Amino acid sequence: MDVGQPDDFSAIEKRAYAAGSSKHYTVDAKQEFAREFVSYAIKLNALYEGSYPLSTALARPLIAKKAVEVAKREEAEAIAHGSTSKGNDQVRFDLAIKALAPNVRILAPARVWGMTREEELSFAKAKGIPVTAEHAKYSIDENLWGRSIEGEDISDPSVVVPEDAFLWTKRLREGKLELLIEFKEGVPISVNGERMELSALIKYLNVLAGSYGFGRVDHVENRVVGFKSREVYEAPAALLLISSHIDLEKTVYTPLELRFKREIDSLWSDLVYRGLWFEPLRTVLERTANELNRWIEGEVKVEVEGPGLKILGRRSQFSGLSEEISSYNKGWYPTDEMARGFIEMWGLHSLHALRVRGM
Ligand code: ARG
Repeated sequence: MDVGQPDDFSAIEKRAYAAGSSKHYTVDAKQEFAREFVSYAIKLNALYEGSYPLSTALARPLIAKKAVEVAKREEAEAIAHGSTSKGNDQVRFDLAIKALAPNVRILAPARVWGMTREEELSFAKAKGIPVTAEHAKYSIDENLWGRSIEGEDISDPSVVVPEDAFLWTKRLREGKLELLIEFKEGVPISVNGERMELSALIKYLNVLAGSYGFGRVDHVENRVVGFKSREVYEAPAALLLISSHIDLEKTVYTPLELRFKREIDSLWSDLVYRGLWFEPLRTVLERTANELNRWIEGEVKVEVEGPGLKILGRRSQFSGLSEEISSYNKGWYPTDEMARGFIEMWGLHSLHALRVRGM
């Protein structure tokens, strides 16, 4: 399944036949992933528990959907996946398959046989299935939106993640990188004036911002299966685009819109993380997000320097900020009487409560 990860798909095909497959499909789902999944992650500022841009979580329902399409075409009676019983991915795969093909059986051999990671690796070795050195050391999942890294050596959250775990965010360039990101209806459409289709724009930012060492996440995460784990990610484009999008939203929305939007952002992120892509509420949240993102137009100027990101400025035709109103030097000034009246009534609830309580 090509969801934008830098894999060698002909090697994967060879491996499938080596493992005993009778038929192999390579499915290109890059555009669909960018347009129907990642675009909403941007519109809804998807950061699970404030940190994880949901890269792995987002791709799972799409992978399941494509697997179901193949299963239907081949009249297969079962779909197999490699998840164990300890991860979130099994929940996402199983629920997506159940939603789309309730009569197809789900086989998860690693879960059935209760295999540990070491047992999986030695099983692969015994069966002559090649596993790259990188994958032998860490459990890695990659797609257009990010790279997830897990592993025995880094499961202790106090351990500093070794440099060899990282691939997308090696600091190859010093200095500052200035970028101008243009948004239309909440989705980025150009970088430094150059228009790009969404998946190309994301790839471009991953490589460019990643080469400055930007885009790492290291946090302790609440899994859906009942326990905490240390999780490490590389997602330069995701972090950059979500930060820029959040900034533009603050420029445009009314205070109530902004507050409401943060509520639906976190609802949507939680639902996606928890494997509930097919929960009916998701599309309701997305329609609402589309409605609110109609006004998210304009440009954000950002600067990347090493692991740091700074917003340098923003501009929007729907900006709620009026210099005429806010400037300390010109334009509108409320009179002393207006200000006093407002403050008096604004604070009245609290001041009155203090008085009756003798405080
Ligand atoms: N903790 C992340 C999630 O649940 C990453 C999962 C990575 N998956 C993997 N097979 N390494 O979305």
